[in-house]
Amino acid sequence: MENIVPVVDAAMKKSGLDLRDIDAIAFTQAPGLIGALLVGGQFAKSLALALNKPLIAVHHMQAHVLANLLQDPAPAFPFLCLTVSGGHTQIVLCASATSIKVIGETIDDAAGEAFDKTAKLLGLPYPGGPLIDKYAQLGKAIYKFPEPKIEGLNFSFSGLKTSILYFLNNAGTANVYKKELAVNAEERKRFIDENLNNICASVQDRIISILINKLKKAVIQTGITNVCIAGGVSANSALRKKLTETGTALGWKTFIPAFEYCTDNAAMIAVTGYHKYLAKEFAVIDIAQTANSSF
Ligand SMILES: Nc1ncnc2c1ncn2[C@@H]1O[C@H](COP(=O)(O)OP(=O)(O)O)[C@@H](O)[C@H]1O
Ligand SMILES: [Mg+2]
Repeated sequence: MENIVPVVDAAMKKSGLDLRDIDAIAFTQAPGLIGALLVGGQFAKSLALALNKPLIAVHHMQAHVLANLLQDPAPAFPFLCLTVSGGHTQIVLCASATSIKVIGETIDDAAGEAFDKTAKLLGLPYPGGPLIDKYAQLGKAIYKFPEPKIEGLNFSFSGLKTSILYFLNNAGTANVYKKELAVNAEERKRFIDENLNNICASVQDRIISILINKLKKAVIQTGITNVCIAGGVSANSALRKKLTETGTALGWKTFIPAFEYCTDNAAMIAVTGYHKYLAKEFAVIDIAQTANSSF
């Protein structure tokens, strides 16, 4: 609540525009933390009323996908998008800016959660994704974590988390599936300290192979070869590299948002607002913000 007015002021100043120049007010309607959604939503509604401008309700996951349209060249429709963030892991088929269908998604944890929970097991602070990315660049993927056997285009990451836990509890000495703490806490910590880079590289390698293998399946199933990624985890340097390499090898056209448009940002809400404006998809002023909303 303290930040919303200064943020809007700063954005207007940077844009060189006046509030009266704005055609419509777009805001994140769902999903997310309800406190943040309420503050942004109430402010947007007030602004729309005060300026007599149309109001546009944006779904956070649609906005992540459409962050790809901020790029030049932008992907042509139809395209596939792998959206990977702290709360979601989805493959969507985007037929137009306003027609998006989920064709695969996680049945438990999100890819970002797999990064963050691994980081927690390793004693790293939240959010762990960027740190794992950093340490992985200094290591090698020498530990082989199992790939979940999930049919179709859905994902599962909870088993990976468990196998990492058991692996650490055994300090990498025994088989990775064993549950018991085979070493004491001090040995466990020493193992992590001495092998942090390789552990990070191995976990990251497995998460990426899970994601890329499902994308390959989705391309075969749909015949669509324009392939994008989006969401916080698409900021991951190894995933970005792997997507580009896979695209080159298999003849896909690949698209990755600029780094600053991967993690949560306002520009992706604006570009989605723009397309909904063109499609005349306006919201009523008493539309409710919702914390959980499937897409
Ligand atoms: N370089 C990175 N490598 C892996 N994961 C990352 C990286 N940067 C951010 N993440 C992950 O992205 C997630 C945040 O995604 P984001 O879309 O910004 O937020 P939210 O999930 O709240 O919408 C977190 O799980 C974070 O660890
Ligand atoms: Mg997000």
